[in-house]
Amino acid sequence: MNVLLEVKCLAKHFGGLAAVKDLSFSVGKGQIMGLIGPNGAGKTTAFNTISGVLPPTKGQVRFAGADITGQRPSAIVAQGLVRTFQSTTTYADETVEKNIEHALLSRIQGSVPQRLMQRRSHLLPRDQVAAEVDRVIAIVGMQAWRHTVAGTLAYGLQKKLGIAIGLAARPSMLLMDEPAAGLNHEECNELTRLLRLLRDEHGMTILLVEHHMAIVMEVCERIVVLVHGEKIAEGTPEELRVNPAVVEAYLGAPEYAHA
Ligand SMILES: Nc1ncnc2c1ncn2[C@@H]1O[C@H](COP(=O)(O)OP(=O)(O)O)[C@@H](O)[C@H]1O
Ligand SMILES: [Mg+2]
Repeated sequence: MNVLLEVKCLAKHFGGLAAVKDLSFSVGKGQIMGLIGPNGAGKTTAFNTISGVLPPTKGQVRFAGADITGQRPSAIVAQGLVRTFQSTTTYADETVEKNIEHALLSRIQGSVPQRLMQRRSHLLPRDQVAAEVDRVIAIVGMQAWRHTVAGTLAYGLQKKLGIAIGLAARPSMLLMDEPAAGLNHEECNELTRLLRLLRDEHGMTILLVEHHMAIVMEVCERIVVLVHGEKIAEGTPEELRVNPAVVEAYLGAPEYAHA
């Protein structure tokens, strides 16, 4: 396996609370790795420490062969490890196209306030920006909403825009925190197709935190199970479905029993 992301003995404490304890796992290039576990298990904290939002208490994160532990989020993004955005981080009063443009420009120039965008946009040729926007919009299939103001999009489309904004940074790996949350059945199917497309057609590596077990079981090659900050299991969907510790701690809970 050609390892792209390697997490070694990662820990994050909040005061006396060990939100993530001694977490180690590797994600191979072109793999979709699932990260699952009950609420409060430490999934988002793990994401935050991997993506540089929070400094880890202990441990190491390596990406594409480099030690990125404790680096600033913008430095980590520049190396190709990108977290998809929540819909709340988009410019609600700007069009889909403009939002993606902002993301493209900030990737090249570093994150800058909106008022500086105008000036910086001159640094990139217009046709290059347009081609990149086209590329990203096509991947997520939002051609019909190109000129729609982001704040007026239906919830599912806002989440898609969040993925598009992440893709504008030209990542080699995406970290996705509950992309299916709040989506209806058809939107979940679309998300499943998009995850496969990203991996199979665009060579993307993905770390996917998700409660929607049908999606996780369908798209992930491997899955890490976190409970109370600790990895209790790792394996293929088939292995975890019959792992008694996983079934007891997570999969057997009534709200996931149907999945
Ligand atoms: N910034 C923070 N300060 C203090 N405690 C936190 C903070 N972020 C998360 N926690 C705690 O860490 C634990 C793990 O939370 P989180 O990573 O959000 O879990 P998950 O994403 O798996 O639901 C929880 O007990 C949560 O209350
Ligand atoms: Mg979370």
